[in-house]
Amino acid sequence: MAAGVLAGRHFRVLSLVCLWRWIVLTSCDVPWRYGAVNGSVTLDVPGSTSFEDIMWRQDRNKVTEWRRNDVETTYPPFRGRISLNKTTGALTIFNLQPSDGAEYEFESSGRTMTRYVLKVLEPLPSPTLNCTSTGENITVSCEIPEDYESHQAPIRYSWSCPLAQCNNSPEPTMSFQKKDGFLQKILCTVSNPLVNKTSSIYLETCVPGDRSRSRYGLIALPIAAIFIFPFVRYFLKYGRNPRRTDSS
Ligand SMILES: *[C@@H]1O[C@H](CO)[C@@H](O)[C@H](O)[C@H]1NC(C)=O
Ligand SMILES: *[C@@H]1O[C@H](CO)[C@@H](O)[C@H](O)[C@H]1NC(C)=O
Ligand SMILES: *[C@@H]1O[C@H](CO)[C@@H](O)[C@H](O)[C@H]1NC(C)=O
Ligand SMILES: *[C@@H]1O[C@H](CO)[C@@H](O)[C@H](O)[C@H]1NC(C)=O
Ligand SMILES: *[C@@H]1O[C@H](CO)[C@@H](O)[C@H](O)[C@H]1NC(C)=O
Repeated sequence: MAAGVLAGRHFRVLSLVCLWRWIVLTSCDVPWRYGAVNGSVTLDVPGSTSFEDIMWRQDRNKVTEWRRNDVETTYPPFRGRISLNKTTGALTIFNLQPSDGAEYEFESSGRTMTRYVLKVLEPLPSPTLNCTSTGENITVSCEIPEDYESHQAPIRYSWSCPLAQCNNSPEPTMSFQKKDGFLQKILCTVSNPLVNKTSSIYLETCVPGDRSRSRYGLIALPIAAIFIFPFVRYFLKYGRNPRRTDSS
């Protein structure tokens, strides 16, 4: 109970801070929505359904408005590019353009009920993997063009390889030791809120002058297989039960 009261008070204080921030900054924890260039996005209205009237605005300009028993009016540049669900209030925008990125507001009977900040994302480029080696260390960096990163949505990095350090590392660079072996394939995945792209590199290519270990490894394996296989077969055939060969 006490915790509930405390939580309630905490919430009220938060709301006041929110209100103040809203007045000053005109956006307070407005949820983000993302859409791809030429793609579509649906801005929904959580909770209530069945409206007498609907108004969607983009940065205070009208996008579309509708009143029960009346036709829907859509304004440029959204004419022919949106669909309004009059039951749920959800607005779908098609053929998204970067200029559609803005704050959207749903209003019914003079009350603002939902707001979103929409961001329209350009296609995510595949990352470039680059590596440098110093001494026993190999550092691999995973990069996407800087201008993409700074103007678009937050980018997350993740790595995949057979070594422990690849698990759950959110950094855009990764360090390896030469003793980890050169044949490791390293994958880096970059993700924005819509899609992800993966590129890969072999550690071997990071150490141009020192491929001997891995190359011998590559040659040694098939040779070993060729020589060892007949012995294994012989053992499987006769080795398990030597008595039988003795008695014959
Ligand atoms: C979007 O569509 C236009 C026209 O069809 C095309 O030129 C452009 O390459 C498309 N952009 C993306 C990111 O798909
Ligand atoms: C409006 O949304 C509801 C719930 O998602 C759906 O069942 C209904 O078919 C939609 N109406 C239109 C006209 O798209
Ligand atoms: C990768 O490394 C090379 C050589 O150091 C450099 O010229 C190139 O710009 C790097 N690429 C990226 C994407 O950083
Ligand atoms: C190699 O990496 C280790 C740990 O990441 C670091 O302590 C060491 O200084 C590095 N050595 C070189 C030559 O960069
Ligand atoms: C990348 O996207 C695919 C679907 O397109 C998903 O299955 C996969 O889990 C995503 N990977 C990461 C690392 O986010």
